[in-house]
Amino acid sequence: MSQLATRVGGLQLKNPVLVASGTFGYGREFAPLFDLSRLGGIMVKGVSLEPWSGNPGVRLAETDSGLLNAIGLQNPGLRHFLDEDWPWLRQFGTPVVVNMVGHSVEEYVAVAQAVSDAGVAAIELNVSCPNIEDGLVFGTDQTALAGLVASVRRVTALPLIVKLSPNTTGPLPYARAAVEAGADALSLINTVLGMAIDSVSRRPVLGNVTGGLSGPAIRPIALRYVWEVASTLAVDVIGMGGIASAQDGLTFLEAGAAAVAVGSALFRDPWAAVRLVDELPAELAGFGYPSVQAAIGAARGERRRGGGSA
Ligand SMILES: Cc1cc2nc3c(=O)[nH]c(=O)nc-3n(C[C@H](O)[C@H](O)[C@H](O)COP(=O)(O)O)c2cc1C
Repeated sequence: MSQLATRVGGLQLKNPVLVASGTFGYGREFAPLFDLSRLGGIMVKGVSLEPWSGNPGVRLAETDSGLLNAIGLQNPGLRHFLDEDWPWLRQFGTPVVVNMVGHSVEEYVAVAQAVSDAGVAAIELNVSCPNIEDGLVFGTDQTALAGLVASVRRVTALPLIVKLSPNTTGPLPYARAAVEAGADALSLINTVLGMAIDSVSRRPVLGNVTGGLSGPAIRPIALRYVWEVASTLAVDVIGMGGIASAQDGLTFLEAGAAAVAVGSALFRDPWAAVRLVDELPAELAGFGYPSVQAAIGAARGERRRGGGSA
């Protein structure tokens, strides 16, 4: 393997830097800025069976150290993705991971089947969606999560990545349920539920009242999720949550992630992910790692000299 190459759930990547779902659209806005083939992979905005219009009212609120979003998973739907976005995106040769959303197991299964036939690189299940049958969010109910993953597993041979919600008591039971049901890799983490009150109207800022917090504020939470899962289960992990630099990316690799994704940082700096690709070799070398592979899980080893705690 070359210095930056890595493998996640059977997916071979030339470098470990992906862009996180929902923060990169389907790539079109970024293509004029840099060559998309420089990324390790592209995780596209969640695709649903039919178009979703998303939430009404204010959808974004900035916080001191992150972003609250309540987009409501707006997307133009499977047909649009297959007819317009995928034929355009595939020209770059970058592995495309299709993030998918649904209101029922059947909807997820239909999307998984269709994108598998189209030849994308992998599937990522966003399980932070409520099931219309009982209103429960798939990812916060272990039985529903296992049922969903098993159903999608039956219809696809692609690497199957499950993106866990941090809005539970901890990652392990959910990570185990997903792996036992057939997940090849886990994405950690999705956004953390929060809200904001407007300083003038004294009412909730977001039309949906609550939203998902992302950015630097959640980086320690994400790092803990990666550490706990990677130290306990034999499954590949893609780390995400507030990653903005090669320094951030390296800490996730050291915690046990086999790859990382840049999300909200792209709103401030659209080049953040390619900069991470550029700066990672020096960051690795600076700490004596000959390769990405050597850094993965390294924080679990002996404490380095000079690394004592206060
Ligand atoms: C505006 C926005 C839209 C998002 N849309 C999706 C989505 O469609 N599917 C999904 O699985 N995650 C979605 N996410 C979550 C991100 O992919 C990522 O897991 C999360 O933001 C944490 O990473 P970050 O702190 O680097 O942004 C979205 C996040 C943001 C900020």
